[in-house]
Amino acid sequence: MENFAIDSSKKKKFIIFGGGFSGNYIANEIRKLGYKALTSSRQVTNNPSNFFFDSLSSTLPPEHIFEGTTHVLSCIPPDKSGKDPVLSRLHKKLKSLNLEWVGYLSTTGVYGNTFGEWVTEKDPAKPLQDRSKRRLLCEKSWLDSSLPVQIFRLPGIYGPGRSTFDSILKKNIKVIHKPNQVFSRIHVADIANAILFLLKINNENFKQIINIADNYPTSQIEVIQHSYKLLGLRMPEPINFEDAKKLLSPIALSFWEENRRVSNAMLCKDLGYKLIHKDYKSGLKNCLEIMKQKNLI
Ligand SMILES: NC(=O)c1ccc[n+]([C@@H]2O[C@H](COP(=O)([O-])OP(=O)(O)OC[C@H]3O[C@@H](n4cnc5c(N)ncnc54)[C@H](OP(=O)(O)O)[C@@H]3O)[C@@H](O)[C@H]2O)c1
Repeated sequence: MENFAIDSSKKKKFIIFGGGFSGNYIANEIRKLGYKALTSSRQVTNNPSNFFFDSLSSTLPPEHIFEGTTHVLSCIPPDKSGKDPVLSRLHKKLKSLNLEWVGYLSTTGVYGNTFGEWVTEKDPAKPLQDRSKRRLLCEKSWLDSSLPVQIFRLPGIYGPGRSTFDSILKKNIKVIHKPNQVFSRIHVADIANAILFLLKINNENFKQIINIADNYPTSQIEVIQHSYKLLGLRMPEPINFEDAKKLLSPIALSFWEENRRVSNAMLCKDLGYKLIHKDYKSGLKNCLEIMKQKNLI
């Protein structure tokens, strides 16, 4: 396998498809290092760091976007048929660029239900949900693309602007109790930082598929309880899962059908990445600090 490390002696330009929550955060972290990073959006904007890309539109990004591009990251989920939105429109273009590195944000949903057991990259993918089956198809398309691809499998993503605090303040939180149910999660800062760390060390030890998760999978109720405590508010009485089923949308319900502890041992033990937020307590503290700085709270 080829290696794709960042070589600081050369100019770098990143194109990030999907400037949503993670894509935008990662782009900002890349810019802080002095590299150029453009993000895509399905809306036309005046922002020169942003370009239009909608896989359902016949308009493709203009040629000048691609000039000098060395790195590409896709943060766009699969389309309804399981095709990858970027590859289905731009595979040939990407191949023509002679890229140093291509990243793809995937999900740990591809592992399916492990009934609370730990899961590592060595475990076979056994997707349960249709969306996770489509995701696995996209992973395969990237792996077969003959591009220098690295895949990041992510659990629930949270961070400033997308945390339990936001749900509590918007009053759209449901406090649900389901015994023995855990979720894994990752703060968006660790997604960005782990990717940049891997870009640096890929030369010595390149792994094609990597989980990025924190150290502490735990119940959702534990996280919600802690959030209420930090806000100085009283948590509502939890609803038992069986009763909550009627209140949940099919997509929300589907998340409760899987119970997994995602291992980060490859990233943190084998490769030596140090998490910024090793658990939800550290991550939530950061979210709250930022909300206070922005006078949102
Ligand atoms: N959220 C989670 O907890 C979680 C967990 C594991 C994995 N993931 C996956 O990780 C990736 C990043 O997650 P995120 O939560 O940061 O995503 P996000 O905020 O929902 O952003 C998704 C981005 O994809 C773009 N997009 C969607 N469909 C598109 C299409 N057909 N053509 C062009 N662009 C399209 C959106 O464009 P607009 O900006 O124009 O809307 C947006 O920029 C996604 O693939 C997501 O499924 C998410």
